[in-house]
Amino acid sequence: MRGIILAGGTGSRLRPVTQGVSKHLLPVYDKPMVYYPLSVLMLAGIRDILVISTPGDLPLFQRLLGDGSSLGINLTYAPQAAPRGIAEAFVIAAPFLDGEPCALVLGDNIFHGNHLSELLCTHTRLTDGCVLFAHPVADPERYGIGEVDTAGRLIHLEEKPVTARSNLAITGLYFYDGQVVDIARGLRPSPRGELEITDINLHYLAAGQARLVNLGRGFSWLDAGTYDSLMDAGQYIQTLERRQGIRIACLEEIALRRGYISPDDCYRLGERLSNSPYGQYVMDTAHSAGTLVAAP
Ligand code: DAU
Repeated sequence: MRGIILAGGTGSRLRPVTQGVSKHLLPVYDKPMVYYPLSVLMLAGIRDILVISTPGDLPLFQRLLGDGSSLGINLTYAPQAAPRGIAEAFVIAAPFLDGEPCALVLGDNIFHGNHLSELLCTHTRLTDGCVLFAHPVADPERYGIGEVDTAGRLIHLEEKPVTARSNLAITGLYFYDGQVVDIARGLRPSPRGELEITDINLHYLAAGQARLVNLGRGFSWLDAGTYDSLMDAGQYIQTLERRQGIRIACLEEIALRRGYISPDDCYRLGERLSNSPYGQYVMDTAHSAGTLVAAP
């Protein structure tokens, strides 16, 4: 399975903060926002990842993340010329996907919870249909909303309903089979001129090929697209990290634990950031993985 991070758009709800820089490069406490969706794909075991952003911001993502080789993954980049909708990601990604199933994660979505990796890995074997991940919310009018029957099967989907039929929001993490590019190419733009992700999902639902996984209370799902949600996300991460002494979405740690890089490699990545607590954490993590780190 291949992965896509969609990190374009205008960030208009965060202006003027996003006037000079992509929303997805803003800090969520101790790391740039894009680390969180990238960590989700890495936790799902996905190593071939396409980052899509605006032509102006793309070089900044490349400067931050490079080609991924230091983390044992492959990162490539593609521009989205204008924010023509989330589903346009599949049209842009067509050559990269080459007919393979894929996971799409929105660049402003943050997931945290027990056994996230195991949960995701059970769905990366998907060969037909799509898997959507839902989470209860207090403000359903802001999201794509799903309704399930008594057996938990998805029966209805609606984008930002005025009157919601449930409180189950469709999160910005989606797994699709190899049909998704053709489905995206066949979409008509919505009245606001966008290729809507919900229209893709409705296509799978109509074909009886859409599954919904309710993440439920054991997980936290945050998006960081407004002043308050960005601040809330930062405080959430700060609270957990300070209390538990761990770091959430530490890419070097995930790469180490998945065996993509050696403890020595991990240590060296930490050393480059060693003036910061994040860098120290990466070095400590490499140490406790039981390595004899070579002297500089
Ligand atoms: O966060 C989950 C929600 O994301 C879902 O529940 C909705 O069904 C889905 O439509 C989407 O709603 P949003 O209103 O949050 O979408 P937004 O336009 O804010 O874009 C979400 C992310 O995708 C954001 O990081 C910017 C990026 N994006 C968006 C568009 C429309 C792009 O990179 N290009 C685009 O053309």
